[in-house]
Amino acid sequence: MMKEQKEQTFGDSIREALFGSAEKEPKDAIEMLKADHKKVKGLFKDFEKCEKRAEKKKILNEIMTELAVNSAIEEKLIYPLLEKKDIEKTLEAYEEHHLVKVVIDELISLAKPEGMDAKAKVLFEMVKHHIKEEESMNGLLAELKDTGRDLEALAEAMKVEKLKLMKKSIQTLISTKASKRSETVGAKRAAAMRKAS
Ligand SMILES: [Fe+2]
Ligand SMILES: [Fe+2]
Repeated sequence: MMKEQKEQTFGDSIREALFGSAEKEPKDAIEMLKADHKKVKGLFKDFEKCEKRAEKKKILNEIMTELAVNSAIEEKLIYPLLEKKDIEKTLEAYEEHHLVKVVIDELISLAKPEGMDAKAKVLFEMVKHHIKEEESMNGLLAELKDTGRDLEALAEAMKVEKLKLMKKSIQTLISTKASKRSETVGAKRAAAMRKAS
């Protein structure tokens, strides 16, 4: 009985930290990824509407953290499942994450603040394109349904991972070697094709 109460409390604290309330909590991995996408697109609009520079910077920091955490989760728990389903699309997604991280890195170390808006705009366009592809009818999220994985269990793993990642700095998160992963997968695939031919 005591154990049950303790687990419930831990679950509640995860939910609270990630979603604010139980009603908003996504039920499976696809809903969770879509909720992350929606959140970040809302933040893009907040940034665009905002006129105070200090406030804009704050919103941009939140955007960069969200993007870095979402990318890390996808690269650790989602994309490896999709490599077997659709290697071309997954490699492209790894590469797009890599480019997003390059722009985030440049935004963090921007020498002149005047450059922030233009660079942020490019970042938003890249991410919107990436999200549109992931959520499209034949996109990676649709493919995730066909992997045979328990998507609710996957969502639980994603929540635990998200809490761990949220404690790390953006610099640490964007230093993950997404493009290296893409190169490794690409090289393995090319070797397998050579062997088969
Ligand atoms: Fe992604
Ligand atoms: Fe995504």
